[in-house]
Amino acid sequence: MNTKTTVIEKEELEKQFSYCDKIAAFWQSEGIVPAAYVETYGCQQNEADSEKLRGYLAQCGYRIVQEAEGADVVIMNTCAIREHAEQRVFGNLGALTHTKRRHPRQKIFLCGCMAGETKVSDRIKKSYPHVDGVFSTHHLWQFPEILWKVLNQKKRQFYIVDEPGSIAEGIPQVRDSKLKAWVSIMYGCNNFCTYCIVPYVRGRERSRAPEDILAECRALVEGGAKEITLLGQNVNSYGKDLGGGMDFADLLEAIAQIPGEFLVRFMTSHPRDASFKLFDTMAKYDKIAKQLHLPFQSGSSRVLKAMNRHYDRETYLSKVLYAKKVMPELVLTSDVIVGFPGETEEEFEETISLIQQVHYDSLFTFIFSPRPGTPAATMEDPTPKEEKSRRFDKLCAVQNAISEEIHNNYVNKTLRCLVDGKDKNLLTARTEGGRLVRFAGCDSLIGTYQNITITGATTWSLTGELA
Ligand code: SAH
Ligand code: SF4
Ligand code: F3S
Repeated sequence: MNTKTTVIEKEELEKQFSYCDKIAAFWQSEGIVPAAYVETYGCQQNEADSEKLRGYLAQCGYRIVQEAEGADVVIMNTCAIREHAEQRVFGNLGALTHTKRRHPRQKIFLCGCMAGETKVSDRIKKSYPHVDGVFSTHHLWQFPEILWKVLNQKKRQFYIVDEPGSIAEGIPQVRDSKLKAWVSIMYGCNNFCTYCIVPYVRGRERSRAPEDILAECRALVEGGAKEITLLGQNVNSYGKDLGGGMDFADLLEAIAQIPGEFLVRFMTSHPRDASFKLFDTMAKYDKIAKQLHLPFQSGSSRVLKAMNRHYDRETYLSKVLYAKKVMPELVLTSDVIVGFPGETEEEFEETISLIQQVHYDSLFTFIFSPRPGTPAATMEDPTPKEEKSRRFDKLCAVQNAISEEIHNNYVNKTLRCLVDGKDKNLLTARTEGGRLVRFAGCDSLIGTYQNITITGATTWSLTGELA
């Protein structure tokens, strides 16, 4: 496997910036301030990518708007993780024929993970003529060039060449929040879990240089960010491709040593690579949030093997046990798939017992969705849909009871929370573990850390008052 990371040269990026200048000059000559709308589906990686697209768009002279109606550019940044996600995108893409009819100079693009699938780009070529451009995640850094060609050559553009992937430093970003920032530390995935499309659409695992990540984090903290979330499909394998000896725990430690008042979080951790060293590092620094998202996917070792996850139930449990020992206050969340091909009733019950044993704060629960091109899509799957739904409902009921119990235990405790916004007439805040708290207070508290005493709880959130 080619492990050398391709870094996009500065000159290449300069070329993209010159396309931005050309586009900005074009609109200026027309006397128009154009509008752009970016719609994001899927995970935080896509959120982070959308911030880069908005950064480029701003540099091209566009103002960012919140709806497709009347926008000169509409970008759908898509997710391919489950079939349902794709159906939603195709539905919404179809509806854009109307916005374009009402605003004929609208240019429509589809990017993100779906754009990395040949079946999707073929379908768009054939059946969605109102879409002006498709570009996969590998080509995001070339967006200004793509936009320029669409505007200038009046021809549809398809930038969908599959490749191992590259790293482009220096793409401008328009961040959604000044307070809470995403920082991608690596891209792609090498794990090829048998159910998952991500390695096929996001390319090989590649890490950004630690100095670039640290510089970005320092600048964010200096700019007022109170929370940084490090992103990667498998952050625990950070640095393996760099050969510099720095692993994820080392990177986390270096970030925790940046001066300033902030918390650092990360996602996602793959259990195979989550190390005791990582948990010790988390325990050691106040600035590292005691929150861990550690997807287990199934409680059955046989299913885990069929999923190609490279750990078994026992190893997983021993890691969780250690993490909880060194961080008694740890908030633990996870992902789980129900109805993987061939999952038996007994194997499903192993998932239930694992949940009961671990006691997660919350879970992201999914019914297996076959992704064409992945090994699991062609595995024999005799379990009927209704049976999978029944298992899914049972899983949710068991977890909801646990979440409620854990939330109830918060009542009367006082927690340091970051006040991050407003929901109707109440302020919203996040505990160190990432739990949502609503409380009454004045708007000037937004952006500060406050001690909040928890007064009430539901399955999904907490209520409180200033301590
Ligand atoms: N890199 C992360 C997960 C990214 S995808 C990790 O390995 O933990 C987020 C979640 O979607 C996965 O953890 C998995 O639970 C779920 N998922 C992925 N592919 C799926 C599929 N084909 N069907 C159902 N759920 C799936
Ligand atoms: Fe998908 Fe597995 Fe990679 Fe996560 S680790 S992105 S589930 S292949
Ligand atoms: Fe979806 Fe791509 Fe994320 S498939 S979950 S947007 S990496």
